[in-house]
Amino acid sequence: MFDQASKLRKMFPDSSEEDEKAEDRSSRHRSRVVSIASGKGGVGKTNITVNLGLALQKLDKDVLILDADMGMANVDVVLGMTARYHLGHVLEDKCSIEDALLQGPSGITVLPGASGVNDFIDIEIDEVKKLLELSAAIEDEFDFIIMDIGAGAHKGVVNFIRAADEIMVVLTPEPTAVMDAYSLLKILSDYALSSRLNLVVNQVENRREGEKVTERMENAIREYLEIDVDNSTLIPYDSALRKSVKKQNPMMEIYPNSKAGKAFSQLAEIMAFGAEKEKSRGMKGFVYRMLGFFRGN
Ligand SMILES: Nc1ncnc2c1ncn2[C@@H]1O[C@H](COP(=O)(O)OP(=O)(O)OP(=O)(O)O)[C@@H](O)[C@H]1O
Ligand SMILES: [Mg+2]
Repeated sequence: MFDQASKLRKMFPDSSEEDEKAEDRSSRHRSRVVSIASGKGGVGKTNITVNLGLALQKLDKDVLILDADMGMANVDVVLGMTARYHLGHVLEDKCSIEDALLQGPSGITVLPGASGVNDFIDIEIDEVKKLLELSAAIEDEFDFIIMDIGAGAHKGVVNFIRAADEIMVVLTPEPTAVMDAYSLLKILSDYALSSRLNLVVNQVENRREGEKVTERMENAIREYLEIDVDNSTLIPYDSALRKSVKKQNPMMEIYPNSKAGKAFSQLAEIMAFGAEKEKSRGMKGFVYRMLGFFRGN
């Protein structure tokens, strides 16, 4: 493991900030990398990733969904697709990048997840090269790269979350989901967080309940964690979403005008047309940052 870390250090001798600056100068187009995370499992991350991705794609944005839930990759299941290859195969050179990318509905692209690649300190040099190659290849192609990240707050998950340009923390109004979201945010706040933070309160039964949760959460994290929330969104509880999961056909495809569908469209509009506050670091920036975090920068 130490050997691996020192190999990485040799490969990237300067700080990841320096690497990023070099990238700044050379990159023409930057994808916006968004990580979808939660403290508690089962709150709706995968469905939010897929439906938000589709809503953005319907606004003519090119979207790649990266299934980064190493424990339980199931973006393909929600989309009703069958994955032959995944990120792990690309990194191990068992297939090309093109082989692993799946074409989904409305022109969305999916890179299926790999299990067992969650500790990037152990990543081989060849795999790092592959990861950067992959990043360069997708950077020009996509406006948004949306990552479905596993629930929880262990180091691998946290490094993935905080390397993104934008973080979306998903919770529901349930007290356990609220507490676990707060715990995740507390861990994130221990690092100098430089990503924009968004909250998504999902499965909201009524607007007032959702607004109360949002307000409490925003206040608590501002006061105790000194983090400002960029944008908070409510997604209603919607039986159309459950039905779509059972049909393995995403909600934005079959019930785009449902309550939750409209909420996804609204959120997508804010993301697509709202003012971009800082320049995105893009996919290569994401990889450099993530590797930097894993080797302790
Ligand atoms: N807005 C909603 N309205 C109704 N049901 C919902 C809503 N969002 C999610 N669900 C239901 O919650 C279930 C869990 O959703 P999902 O799989 O997206 O959660 P997850 O956070 O990705 O879970 P995991 O942590 O296991 O990966 C889904 O089967 C779906 O039916
Ligand atoms: Mg999931």
